[in-house]
Amino acid sequence: MNWWKNSVIYQIYPRSFQDSNNDGIGDIPGIISHLDYLEKLGVDVIWLGPVYQSPGDDNGYDISDYQAINPEFGTMEDLDNLINEAKKRNIGIVMDLVVNHTSDEHEWFLEAKKGKDNPYRDYYIWRDPVDGGVPNDMKSTFSGPAWEFDEASGQYYLHLYSKKQPDLNWENEEMRNKIYEMMTFWLEKGIAGFRMDVIDHIGKVPDEKIITNGPKLHDYIQEMNHRSFGNYDVMTVGETWSATPADAPLYSDPQRKELSMVFQFEHIGLDEQPGKSKWDLKPLNIIDLKKTLTKWQTEIGENSWNSLFWNNHDTPRIVSRWGNDNEYRVESAKLFAILLHLMKGTPYIYQGEEIGMTNRELSDISQARDIETINMYHDRLGSGYDEAAIFESLNAKSRDNARTPMQWKDTKNAGFTTNEPWIPANPNHETVNVANALEDPNSVFFTYQKLIQLRKQNPLIVHGNYTLLLPDHETIFAYEREYEGEKWVVVANLSDFEARLDLKTTPTETIISNYNKTYDHLAGIKLEPYEAFAVKVLS
Ligand code: GLC
Ligand code: CA
Repeated sequence: MNWWKNSVIYQIYPRSFQDSNNDGIGDIPGIISHLDYLEKLGVDVIWLGPVYQSPGDDNGYDISDYQAINPEFGTMEDLDNLINEAKKRNIGIVMDLVVNHTSDEHEWFLEAKKGKDNPYRDYYIWRDPVDGGVPNDMKSTFSGPAWEFDEASGQYYLHLYSKKQPDLNWENEEMRNKIYEMMTFWLEKGIAGFRMDVIDHIGKVPDEKIITNGPKLHDYIQEMNHRSFGNYDVMTVGETWSATPADAPLYSDPQRKELSMVFQFEHIGLDEQPGKSKWDLKPLNIIDLKKTLTKWQTEIGENSWNSLFWNNHDTPRIVSRWGNDNEYRVESAKLFAILLHLMKGTPYIYQGEEIGMTNRELSDISQARDIETINMYHDRLGSGYDEAAIFESLNAKSRDNARTPMQWKDTKNAGFTTNEPWIPANPNHETVNVANALEDPNSVFFTYQKLIQLRKQNPLIVHGNYTLLLPDHETIFAYEREYEGEKWVVVANLSDFEARLDLKTTPTETIISNYNKTYDHLAGIKLEPYEAFAVKVLS
């Protein structure tokens, strides 16, 4: 039990991982062809982005059949093969569970649209117009109102995301039962668990404009646990943008029988202007980053569990975001790896992070693929924003940054496809690619591999106490881990400039260093830009 506390998870964005039949779209056989690579990296679990049948308005997060595979990605047999082939390498498959909404092309919604008396009507959230317009001023995450008018019935339906993603009505018990049956179908295939898309929305109360943490949220999750995955030895992780450290145990205290852990996003918002949107940029303050991550290390309590991540398919690449993807690309990529993987919690690696993949610059909106990005562009242009400012936001934060093809080789399209890829490969694949990484013992890849091995060998990483050191230092993020009389110190200089470290503790062994140094004292030493290391110290 709790095997997932010792695990490292690798996130695959199926569309962009590997195309096996040269239609320009990544697919399941493509993933199978790289399982040996993932085994070499050492990961225990793959979180597989949605591969279900979908019209693809939001790249598969708009599902039209939960129990069918999108032919673009392959067949159900391919998926069974993936599960089996992964299992042979001791890798589990965690499926993406998207049950806050379906596609508007899902059979339930097609039925629901037939009229107010249709038995499926109440599977979704419908409201009468108010004063001839939208029921209230709730907004969609992808721009515009969260309500779409349905001519036929004269009512609006709710969509917190695109209008092709109508929100399910979790008040409806029959709908909930169907979701649990669907989950059991997947569990019976021997999957390793679920990543639950925007799960903190399912208890929403639209009439009170309560979008997250609704009053019945935890009842629904408990019911879901009891009726589906609670009977299987699997892991579950909730995507909860709203979660605070106080919420974490509500989801993940084992006694409550809900989830294994949640993704928290407090650090992800630190380079946004408070109260504005993700597009309104502000420089990251390292002290804020230290405070936020430390809060999650220390305040969630003994009966709760963290997940650890820097980036995913919705966020920019970490080296480009808070590191230096130019002169110090390798050093900063390794720094982020060391800093995160030695914290308490289950680490997640987003595909390509392990070779230090970077953001991709857009100069024309026709190069964008992501619905959120495209909508924001038109929205802001329409409301008078300067185009250059829009591109600055978009190049910093567009979800397309992380969705460019996985960079396997220096050949055309990065070895992802021989056809036109659905989204162009980052031109830097000529140098940043897996083939190069595997040939270079000093590559980012081997830092990740080593960190994963360290986790397997050292219970301190999984269970040790965490204490922040040097809380007021402006660029150095340093912390201590302590377990059964053993102590480690982790140090990272998050800056393009040198810094001076002054710690009194005495190292007895260097565990890992991105500058290949060994350390025998930490008092008054000079740190290079993005230098990061971990040492065992006298305790
Ligand atoms: C989650 C997904 C994101 C998707 C949204 C709606 O945030 O990670 O990609 O667009 O939910 O399903
Ligand atoms: Ca393909």
